[in-house]
Amino acid sequence: MTSTVEPIRWRADHLQLLDQRRLPLQTEYLRCDTYEAVAEAIHEMAVRGAPAIGIAAAYGLVLARRRGVDMDQARARLQASRPTAVNLHWALTRMADQGWRSADELEAEAVEIHQQDLQQNLAMAEHGAALLPEGARVLTHCNTGALATGGHGTALGVIRTAHAQGKLAAVYATETRPWLQGARLTAWELQQEGISAQLMVDSAAALAMARGMIDWVIVGADRIAANGDTANKIGTYALACAAAQHDVGVMVVAPSGTFDLDCPDGNAIPIEERGPEEVVRVGERVLAAPGVSVFNPVFDVTPARLIRALVCERGATKPPSRASIAELLAPG
Ligand code: MRU
Repeated sequence: MTSTVEPIRWRADHLQLLDQRRLPLQTEYLRCDTYEAVAEAIHEMAVRGAPAIGIAAAYGLVLARRRGVDMDQARARLQASRPTAVNLHWALTRMADQGWRSADELEAEAVEIHQQDLQQNLAMAEHGAALLPEGARVLTHCNTGALATGGHGTALGVIRTAHAQGKLAAVYATETRPWLQGARLTAWELQQEGISAQLMVDSAAALAMARGMIDWVIVGADRIAANGDTANKIGTYALACAAAQHDVGVMVVAPSGTFDLDCPDGNAIPIEERGPEEVVRVGERVLAAPGVSVFNPVFDVTPARLIRALVCERGATKPPSRASIAELLAPG
């Protein structure tokens, strides 16, 4: 049960990225021959989603090694491409860990990171789906599907697996302003998979909860601190507040590479802010008056106390706590 969507294709001497800026209207691959092109693709969000960014960056290092460039410089450039998703740091550190080996050895490591992510997705999807009741009605935010990962997805992976098990009565996707990952990517992915879902504006979610339409909010993560505080797409915190108000469960689904035990809590997580054009424009259409000042943080932090279940490939902790997370991630 793997996805037909293939966002990252490694071709031995170059990387092909399904350009997510153009979906769903155009299905075009962006060719990257250099690590600089990969860093640019990550920064410009041709590839996005925490695990997918880490995988693309790992292949970027292979391209750098093949061209004989300074590997520390390549690593620093890739690391700087987006600040919040810790998977980027995780993948680059894993590639660098045994010193800078041959291009072939680095390639084998990058391919393993890519394949392992898919396996982890499938495992966490089973753990997450097991927490859902029969006939569950779920809401998801942003895009956490095959497009954002090595395949299958994190939160969307749980939804796909639960759908395959016949457990879901309804699926809702928020549009996810300002970049519209939900409207452009998640709704499209669900359509590709034949999973019927309804798209809503972000601000409709609280009403849907008040009407008793939602049992679980299921989201991914870009970085999870040691105490369970979770950085994810802007709007996740608001969803969690509304969920707490209406006794709706919040499930966070992420691979172990998304946990950052060096961050004691959410205050230590860097939050990326992006330019105003994402807010004042939709495509070519300008929405706001010229010169309007914009605040555009693209992630927020949901405190652990608002999260009912934290799921990774090793299992679930419910509710998450510093101790339960340490136990979940303990080696062996
Ligand atoms: O800015 P994006 O689109 O890269 O943000 C993506 C998210 O916030 C996802 O929820 C997160 O990376 C988990 S993806 C499996």
